Amino acid sequence: MSIRVTAPAVEDDTAVPSLVLDDVWKTLRAGGEEVRILRGVSFRLERGEMVALVGPSGSGKSTILGIAAGLDAPTSGRVVIDGTDVTTMSERPLSRLRSQRVGMVFQAYNLLPTLTALENVELPLLVPGQPRREPGRARELLDGLGLGHRLHHRPAQLSGGEQQRVAVARALITDPALLVADEPTGNLDTATGEALVEILLEVRREHGTTVLVATHNDALARRADRLLRVRDGVLEP
Ligand SMILES: Nc1ncnc2c1ncn2[C@@H]1O[C@H](COP(=O)(O)OP(=O)(O)OP(=O)(O)O)[C@@H](O)[C@H]1O
Ligand SMILES: [Mg+2]
Repeated sequence: MSIRVTAPAVEDDTAVPSLVLDDVWKTLRAGGEEVRILRGVSFRLERGEMVALVGPSGSGKSTILGIAAGLDAPTSGRVVIDGTDVTTMSERPLSRLRSQRVGMVFQAYNLLPTLTALENVELPLLVPGQPRREPGRARELLDGLGLGHRLHHRPAQLSGGEQQRVAVARALITDPALLVADEPTGNLDTATGEALVEILLEVRREHGTTVLVATHNDALARRADRLLRVRDGVLEP
């Protein structure tokens, strides 16, 4: 007789936080001097939460996002993404985990100049090991972001805000468990910024995506479930 042992594991899985940062420090050397950029940052994000990281320029928001996405390693401390401790992981499995579970939108959008908007969005699907996705999803995402008429434009033929929205669509195409976005409304006018916030909320609702955004945008911060306030490399209590 066989006993099913998978069910409890799946149940337990829902209790796994999407992201844990535990006493994360980041120190860099600049001009012979040690700069302490993060000084003991700890927080956890539960599944499906949308959390906004706010704080003055230079306080450490982008640094936290890079570490949260597994792109940058902390000097000390622990980072657990979707139940996997990435702190001591080697680059290969880490990059696989990133491509399958983490979506990223950074301040520089990093679109490939020779590809159209649609091709840029579909690009993450070409990474080996990526599960098959429903066809038409890239078009649907771009449509939802108001870019249905720009599918075949290349980045140089798009405005800054349009490129930003292509980068958001690209980050969402793999249905990541965790979406990390740095100032995703930074180049958008109020109406387009609001449309983007609606997309984030919809993705969260429909796919249970956990969202961590750094933002100076009050309208976006207000829609978050929680705020994390950063000042001089520490979270305010
Ligand atoms: N490579 C580096 N070498 C030295 N210092 C750095 C480096 N990268 C970032 N810093 C410093 O770390 C601090 C935090 O930078 P970070 O980009 O995380 O701030 P931020 O909160 O995202 O700011 P902004 O709101 O302007 O985007 C800043 O003081 C910055 O000068
Ligand atoms: Mg920043």
